[in-house]
Amino acid sequence: MSPRGPVVVLDGPAGSGKSTVAKALARVLGVPHLDTGAIYRSVALYMYQHGIPAEDSDELRRALEEIVIEMRDERVFLCGLDVTEEIRTPKVDSLVSGYAAIPSVRRALLGFQRDQARHGVVAEGRDMGSVVFPDADVKIFLTASPEERARRRHLQRISAGVQSDYDEVLREVQERDRLDTQRECSPLQVDPGAFVLDTTGLSLDQVVETLEKEVGMRLGKGA
Ligand code: DC
Repeated sequence: MSPRGPVVVLDGPAGSGKSTVAKALARVLGVPHLDTGAIYRSVALYMYQHGIPAEDSDELRRALEEIVIEMRDERVFLCGLDVTEEIRTPKVDSLVSGYAAIPSVRRALLGFQRDQARHGVVAEGRDMGSVVFPDADVKIFLTASPEERARRRHLQRISAGVQSDYDEVLREVQERDRLDTQRECSPLQVDPGAFVLDTTGLSLDQVVETLEKEVGMRLGKGA
């Protein structure tokens, strides 16, 4: 393990439970939590607000130089404005995969993501282990069946007071899986060194407990 604090990465598809688990692990390890999906969501929101379509263009590359994203205490700020809730709207849900597939977008965000790991990190996303932090101390891949992930998202929306239709959520999950795994640039994939955990049928406590043990073992071995 490096002296700066561990770098632990969690990759996996939408709804696999990465966020809740990553926050819990970051607390246990005493390092910051980095939600890289929130960064891609902020970019998508900015482009949408400025009418810039999801295709590589001079306009898009100029915009990437202007965007200022800050992350503090689990809040996300886009050019100084708190967008923590706005980046989770169905509109941004439907747009984000399109922007995340553009190589210049991914390149522009690479340095920013690595900067956030200066003092160690638990970072979650799709290409943490394969591209952003290939030398991470621990790599985890979380997954669950599409039906289970859709069910979780459906219940989350209902408990947040948002109208939700399970079949529609399942179609969204499947479409996002297709886009995230089939794009040419940094597709979602299992890194060969990753510990893979299927969370279907497991409670959050069971997942966190399993991963705490695995992370402890892997960090202990590398120390
Ligand atoms: O984890 P999430 O649902 O908030 O991610 C939003 C989108 O961003 C999703 O379509 C995948 C994409 N993403 C990505 O391409 N690479 C990352 N490291 C994180 C998210």
